[in-house]
Amino acid sequence: MSAVAFIFIFIIIIPTKQAITLFQSPDEGWQVYTSAQAPDGKCLCTAVIPVQGTCSRDLRSHQLRQLMEKVQNISQSMEVLDLRTYRDLQYVRNTESLMKGLDSRLKVAAESQRSLNAKSFQELKEKMTELLPLLPVLDQYKADTRLIVHLKEEVRNLSGSLLAIQEEMGAYDYEELQQRVLMLEARLHACMQKLGCGKLTGVSNPITIRASGSRFGSWMTDTMTPSADSRVWYMDGYYKGRRVLEFRTLNDFVTGQNFVQHLLPHPWAGTGHVVFNGSLYYNKYQSNIAVKYHFRSRSVLVQRSLAGAGYNNTFPYSWGGFSDIDFMVDESGLWAVYTTNQNAGNIVVSRVDPQTLEVLRSWDTGYPKRSAGESFMICGTLYVTNSHLAGAKIYFAYYTNTSSYEYTDIPFHNQYSHISMLDYNPRERVLYTWNNGHQVIYNVTLFHVIKTSGEL
Ligand SMILES: *[C@@H]1O[C@H](CO)[C@@H](O)[C@H](O)[C@H]1NC(C)=O
Ligand SMILES: *[C@@H]1O[C@H](CO)[C@@H](O)[C@H](O)[C@H]1NC(C)=O
Ligand SMILES: *[C@@H]1O[C@H](CO)[C@@H](O)[C@H](O)[C@H]1NC(C)=O
Ligand SMILES: *[C@@H]1O[C@H](CO)[C@@H](O)[C@H](O)[C@H]1NC(C)=O
Ligand SMILES: *[C@@H]1O[C@H](CO)[C@@H](O)[C@H](O)[C@H]1NC(C)=O
Ligand SMILES: *[C@@H]1O[C@H](CO)[C@@H](O)[C@H](O)[C@H]1NC(C)=O
Repeated sequence: MSAVAFIFIFIIIIPTKQAITLFQSPDEGWQVYTSAQAPDGKCLCTAVIPVQGTCSRDLRSHQLRQLMEKVQNISQSMEVLDLRTYRDLQYVRNTESLMKGLDSRLKVAAESQRSLNAKSFQELKEKMTELLPLLPVLDQYKADTRLIVHLKEEVRNLSGSLLAIQEEMGAYDYEELQQRVLMLEARLHACMQKLGCGKLTGVSNPITIRASGSRFGSWMTDTMTPSADSRVWYMDGYYKGRRVLEFRTLNDFVTGQNFVQHLLPHPWAGTGHVVFNGSLYYNKYQSNIAVKYHFRSRSVLVQRSLAGAGYNNTFPYSWGGFSDIDFMVDESGLWAVYTTNQNAGNIVVSRVDPQTLEVLRSWDTGYPKRSAGESFMICGTLYVTNSHLAGAKIYFAYYTNTSSYEYTDIPFHNQYSHISMLDYNPRERVLYTWNNGHQVIYNVTLFHVIKTSGEL
């Protein structure tokens, strides 16, 4: 079957505002919420939330409280997922109507074939063929609706059990309930991972966040911390820099205020730095040493050489600038992109242990690093651009899951014509770039087919 694939999205929401309080026990201090309605395509979720200020009196209500928190967490995760993937759903819908339109045009054309000129008929037919793989996808999309409805029922049942427990506090099977919550949590987690990941199929128009700094540099938010932490890190220049600015929020970054400065003990090379879980990972100037600098303690936690990795402008990206070693983070963790003499200058991508900086596994992509503008990782796939200049596109994809590659043709607008940094942030599902003294972001569209055979 075809490689075209799509994400669909369903939602389990916690409706905090329009919730109706169904039940409240003044003794135990629990409230049971349920959503007021099931808007089309959305799933209901009920959640039981402890009333603020009450404290648990015995172990059982403590356990119950944890259970509730879990249900609540699940619901919140699903909500985040919904926000992230909403636009993909729109895309599927748009494409569906596009396809229907094309189909009817094709039918009309086929009926009056004699009056139609052969060339435009052929064009129409080719367009249609391109869209054909969508059909099974849309069927799956419908089948998946049923699965989500099932999940919804399970969440509802769970809440029902919780209600019952409250009514006869003291006579419930905590163990059984906990098993059910654990199972539900595992399934929702698996569901989210499947929904969240996919193949890159599109990049949005750029949004310029700020114009500042020199031609080359790097800026980012943490790829892992909770979304409440929106600190922005800013590292101007590619050569011997040591000054990292930390802005409190994205707004502070836009206006250039409220920042603190970190002075790195070792200077950096290139622009391939990444912030992951509160630490900066970067390449130490004139070496192939990876450094992990922890912001809160303002100290280097570990440094280690990447065996055989070229440095000091031996194997940079096409724009030069000591960009020999590029760190990045995707949904599955930390990666380093570089090359070695043994790999004859072709891009090597390595999984790196974020605690020890040890290389866990490496893949030789076969793509010459000097012909790459930049690269970034999404869901275990390395995407490589063919230039840093105007006209650049995402040209090559290396799948670490199957150790295989594919040439791609994904355009994006290189507005300021000189990209010296391009990184994916899996938490925000956004590409961050430094383009000729401008800090720019793009949204990405990831598509994925969910297998409907078997359980979620
Ligand atoms: C719910 O999520 C919060 C924040 O991520 C976490 O601290 C807490 O331990 C989670 N609770 C449960 C029961 O998983
Ligand atoms: C929910 O509860 C109803 C009634 O007890 C039961 O028939 C149904 O199978 C349950 N659904 C799930 C998904 O567990
Ligand atoms: C490998 O990853 C790509 C992109 O994330 C995905 O489209 C593909 O289905 C995966 N292949 C396997 C065999 O899991
Ligand atoms: C993130 O950092 C905390 C401590 O700061 C650590 O306990 C946790 O394991 C780290 N997570 C990852 C995925 O490295
Ligand atoms: C790095 O390259 C410069 C020339 O560009 C050279 O002078 C210097 O010795 C090199 N340093 C190392 C550590 O290889
Ligand atoms: C990305 O998508 C979000 C949500 O749809 C939207 O608010 C934001 O403006 C988009 N950003 C870009 C860079 O297109």
